Amino acid sequence: MDKKITVVGAGNVGATVAQRIIEKELADVVLIDIIEGVPQGKALDLKEAAPVEKHDADIIGANTYEASANSDIVIITAGIPRKPGMSRDDLISTNAGIMKNVTQQIAKFSPNTILIIVSNPLDAMCHVAYEASGFPGNRVIGMAGVLDSARFRAFIAMELNVSVENTHAFVLGGHGDTMVPLPRYSTVAGIPITELMSEDRINALVTRTANGGAEIVSLLKTGSAYYAPSSAAVEMAEAILKDKKKILPCAAYLDGEYGFKDLFIGVPVKLGKNGVEEIIQINLTESEKAALQKSANSVQDLKNILKKLAA
Ligand code: NAI
Ligand code: 2OP
Repeated sequence: MDKKITVVGAGNVGATVAQRIIEKELADVVLIDIIEGVPQGKALDLKEAAPVEKHDADIIGANTYEASANSDIVIITAGIPRKPGMSRDDLISTNAGIMKNVTQQIAKFSPNTILIIVSNPLDAMCHVAYEASGFPGNRVIGMAGVLDSARFRAFIAMELNVSVENTHAFVLGGHGDTMVPLPRYSTVAGIPITELMSEDRINALVTRTANGGAEIVSLLKTGSAYYAPSSAAVEMAEAILKDKKKILPCAAYLDGEYGFKDLFIGVPVKLGKNGVEEIIQINLTESEKAALQKSANSVQDLKNILKKLAA
């Protein structure tokens, strides 16, 4: 392939991202993890599937960053999940350390790349990557809104017994309990769902979407979602690689848009070969604005924790 994507973190999300990229022949993949043997083993296993899956994309595994040099896109999924007894501050502290180290290595070998951040807590990790890379805001993008919207779309399709392809949905805000699904901008074949469902049912789907990550965790018990998250990250990568100018909800660096400054939060953006090419500002009702403000406040709280940890 003439494009290269590095995926950092060869766990559930990272390995599935790598699989989806090569099976779509979007790019060659370098899969990096801190655990010796794991990225190499998963890369070889995926390479051996290629004759059956009928693709010619290359994939290699590594524990260092040399092979990642000059990547077009880097998708960062490295991190640890929250463990029993661990506070939110402990998790942020550990994952911020990992994110800072990974991003510095990436920036050294691929100074012109575009970063797609997946690790949690998502919006805070985008800030760490932004600061550690020194990249402009358009080249640091967080994956959350595409996943949250996909979940909302799946629930709408299940509720109305229609094709998922007929659905569109928008979810704004931070990736967490305070995310802001927007029913007014969510449609089936162009018809707002507010015309198709009762307020009670819409509220139930909105709540299920906001708790979508936790619902999967409670079923899996030993990990979190990775099939839908990997699909979402790869949709973003494809939009950038193919310069599609696709409008997707992503965690983007805001410099005054929506009234927020120096903050990563989920908003609709246009993705193309330069990363975030435009932040789309849509009209919000007073209650939607209040919900977005509440979500921004919780992202700001995480940023304050990062500042405290750095002091
Ligand atoms: P996982 O535990 O399966 O994989 C994480 C991988 O990161 C492990 O293989 C680990 O060895 C590796 N790692 C740890 N430190 C590293 C370092 N310094 N350098 C390179 N690799 C390192 O976790 P999973 O399920 O793949 O999730 C990854 C992250 O993505 C988590 O933080 C999770 O919360 C987050 N996530 C975010 C979503 C979103 O919507 N933004 C959705 C799903 C997951
Ligand atoms: C999710 O939403 C855990 O953030 C992850 O599934």
